[in-house]
Amino acid sequence: MRNVLSVTSECVPLIKTGGLADVAGALPAGLAATGWQARTLLPAYPGLLEKAEAKQQVFTFKDLMGGKARVMVGSVDGLDVLLLDAPHLYDRPGGPYGNPTDFPDNPVRFAALSYAAAQIARQGLSDGWKPQVLHAHDWQAGLAPTYLNLGGPHDVATVVTVHNIAFQGLAPAAMLGVLGLPVSSFTSEALEYWGQISTLKAGLVDADAITTVSPTYAAELMRPEFGMGLEGLIAHRAGDLSGILNGIDMDIWNPATDPEIASYSVTSLKGKAKNRKALMAEFGLSKIDGPLGIIVSRLTAQKGMDLIAATAEQFIAEGGGLAILGSGDPAIEDQMRLLARNHPGKVGLRIGYDEALSHRMFGGGDMVLVPSRFEPCGLTQLYGLRYGTVPIVAATGGLADSVINANTMANASNASTGFQFHPIDALAFGHCLRNAALMFRDKAAWSRLQKRGMKQSLGWEASSTAYAALYERLTK
Ligand code: ADP
Ligand code: GLC
Repeated sequence: MRNVLSVTSECVPLIKTGGLADVAGALPAGLAATGWQARTLLPAYPGLLEKAEAKQQVFTFKDLMGGKARVMVGSVDGLDVLLLDAPHLYDRPGGPYGNPTDFPDNPVRFAALSYAAAQIARQGLSDGWKPQVLHAHDWQAGLAPTYLNLGGPHDVATVVTVHNIAFQGLAPAAMLGVLGLPVSSFTSEALEYWGQISTLKAGLVDADAITTVSPTYAAELMRPEFGMGLEGLIAHRAGDLSGILNGIDMDIWNPATDPEIASYSVTSLKGKAKNRKALMAEFGLSKIDGPLGIIVSRLTAQKGMDLIAATAEQFIAEGGGLAILGSGDPAIEDQMRLLARNHPGKVGLRIGYDEALSHRMFGGGDMVLVPSRFEPCGLTQLYGLRYGTVPIVAATGGLADSVINANTMANASNASTGFQFHPIDALAFGHCLRNAALMFRDKAAWSRLQKRGMKQSLGWEASSTAYAALYERLTK
């Protein structure tokens, strides 16, 4: 076995706000099959230490950015975790990033995570474990390769994965000293970004390799519409960049065994009809004779929720219904409330975060709507495929890479798995929804579409093999 240290701010089953947690939690099992043992380093937020079994202290810091800290190795549901126990940084109420708005010391909190990762990678742990590869996820771990390189020569290969370039880990230049970064690093060739520190940029400059979570997003990142100011740097590093599509956890997301729903499978969709009925009752929906669309999403501009508001009237007028679960931007939440209020019995809404409910929605929905403006990978369209809940997606990023559009040719050759629209605007989305709703009325065609989606291989095999190949190349 060879070792990889995965560094992340969230990880299923311990703590999750979005897809990063799903990926960080599921990739290690895939990697194990390729001969790479991953240990996942994340902050010991409140309650996390209690969840880990067979705990053992494996590293200590006399002073980690303002206080004592230690690293505990342990296991949670078969996942090997390293919990960074630093009460001055992580022992506070709220989510991983704030309560409810961002903690002002987030730059320090996640620089500390990155610094700890670099020290572990360089020195190894007291139980003898030492990684050959350090794999940093997003801006929260972006400084890990930088700290490693600043400490002098080492034998650890580094990878940074961009899950979303919209979050760049910005901090005022005045924090250089607090973060232990030399003034010489504050240049446009290194971690300076428009007069501020960017921890993501640091990673993009200093890591040996850059990956992102779909091939299309890798190409998009080199264009100004998607690169958010970092397109030049990424294009410059194109030779070190690859796009590896995320998988899903096929055990957690399995309609045949999901405890939240009546079970069903690709050979018999009967249970799905039962789930649909239950879901409609749960959302107070009564008057739908067309498709039931579901939305499980952060309610933010990225996710194109304005396009839902703009197309809902027509979709509903033509017989459709909507069940929406999400939270986020207060203005978008209000927009969704208005939609639900204007369409009682046709639009049901839950503002909040509810993992169990999301399973019931995939179990009972006819289609999942994902009209994102940009989407590095996206996971809900993959859950949709797995559950026979046909994805209707914007043709961008990982959505473009994971759904085969039901055009005439793809239908004729039995390849289609969902619907894509482009350009990403209300006109194209509305048109696409209408096409989908039309096909929904052709029960035989619809069920073929559902079953093709359910038969896709969506697990981690292909992707973890690609990550393993990358690690191997870097450590040769
Ligand atoms: P992102 O990470 O950009 O939010 P992804 O599609 O990659 O988008 O991942 C989102 C994850 O969070 C999925 O697992 C999705 O099911 C879940 N999710 C999002 N919003 C909610 C919610 N309100 N309740 C339950 N699960 C949610
Ligand atoms: C980010 C992206 C999402 C992706 C997830 C996991 O949150 O917004 O598209 O699926 O990371 O990689």
